[in-house]
Amino acid sequence: MENRKSQKLWGGRFEEATATSVEAFTESISYDKRLYRYDIEGSKAHATMLAANKLLSQDELASIVDGLSAIETKIEEGTFSFKSELEDIHMNIEKALIDAIGPAGAKLHSARSRNDQIALDLRLYLRDQCDGFTALLDDVRRAFVVLARKYMGQVMPGYTHLQRAQPVLIAHHMMAYYEMFGRDKERIADCRKRINILPLGAAAMAGTGLPIDREMVAELLDFDAVTANSMDTSGDRDFAIEFVSCCTMIQLHLSRLSEELVLWSSQEFSFVQIADKFCTGSSIMPQKKNPDIPELIRGKSGRVVGSLMSLITLMKGLPLTYNRDLQEDKEPVFDAVDTVSASLAIMAEMLGNLQFNTERMEDATKTGFITATDLADYLVLHNVPFRDAHGIVGRAVASCIEKGCELTDLSLEEMREFSPVIDRDIFEVLSVKGSVNSRKSTGGTASARVEEAVRTAEKQMGMG
Ligand code: ARG
Repeated sequence: MENRKSQKLWGGRFEEATATSVEAFTESISYDKRLYRYDIEGSKAHATMLAANKLLSQDELASIVDGLSAIETKIEEGTFSFKSELEDIHMNIEKALIDAIGPAGAKLHSARSRNDQIALDLRLYLRDQCDGFTALLDDVRRAFVVLARKYMGQVMPGYTHLQRAQPVLIAHHMMAYYEMFGRDKERIADCRKRINILPLGAAAMAGTGLPIDREMVAELLDFDAVTANSMDTSGDRDFAIEFVSCCTMIQLHLSRLSEELVLWSSQEFSFVQIADKFCTGSSIMPQKKNPDIPELIRGKSGRVVGSLMSLITLMKGLPLTYNRDLQEDKEPVFDAVDTVSASLAIMAEMLGNLQFNTERMEDATKTGFITATDLADYLVLHNVPFRDAHGIVGRAVASCIEKGCELTDLSLEEMREFSPVIDRDIFEVLSVKGSVNSRKSTGGTASARVEEAVRTAEKQMGMG
């Protein structure tokens, strides 16, 4: 139709229909349709509040609620037709409602703007994601506790600079990740507090002159409070940035873990065996078994960091209040959610199928002067100042390197050449088990400490 007038819900002041290129460029329905459930839930609560304040009759409310439920069913059945000329999820649903129930549907948008509506949908969506992430993080943490319990008492080298540093329990290493993912869980819980505040009622940005009851909507939707400033509310995406920054931290932790699994499964380390069903082969080298899952998780951290950067850059320089730029927040948020939740889920599954080569790991603690610090500590306990002790042990290590032996290969007499305070008990001190079990400081790797940590974790996670 030439020069047809705009058919949009907002089309009143327009003489011309929107160019199709503009419709294609501005639409968000192709991705924000995933918010349909939250949009409908929010609309039902809004309508309930409008009726309580006489802006809708009880009949109108009933037909809106039924109409919205019918739309939800259609979307879930896959029979709803989303239209890009209706831009976004809000207008797709609202237009379908008006088409289905008539004038009552046209009253739903009273005292509301898409600006506070999208803020509401995104908060409801992210609140759900917080709960989902908490469960996924717990699955991963449980997998670490299981591994810690299974390998309790077994030793491995602990590394700094990826050089053998001091012997530790495998369980201690596992529990390090339990702690890391525990902090991630706390961060999500904290972020949820700021997500769980109702933005609806800010309307376009200045509030509304219609008699509404924001507290009632907050209660209906299980929000803890309502936002305090309408202008802040319609342009605020702090909560989304915060959430994606939590996602980034989780993915970084997963990536560090993945890096270790890739290293450990290499022939050079041979510390772990990742189950066959979590590996893939090479199309050219028949002997290959590749750790693709941890590699991909490590690689996907780039996407999550990218999402965070997108959001931060998107917000920088936006004047108050709502700007259409904000529509660009959805895809990075969704991508971060999808990437991190898929990575957490598969990591938990893979950890449940991990085998440590404990012999190989223990062997790796037998070389590399891994208990040199224990010799220094021994000297300190015999009143040698630590700096002097450090020098003495350094000289002992140098002489062992020259002889091509380990500290434990020296005789007592040879050791005494370095310091006369050394006695027969040094051999127990320099043994791997002796070294590990001496580290009884809070948070240390001594068996007793790690046993405590694992037991506490088992209690926290409701295990055994
Ligand atoms: N699709 C929009 C977004 O995601 C919804 C709000 C649009 N508001 C507006 N006045 N155009 O941000």
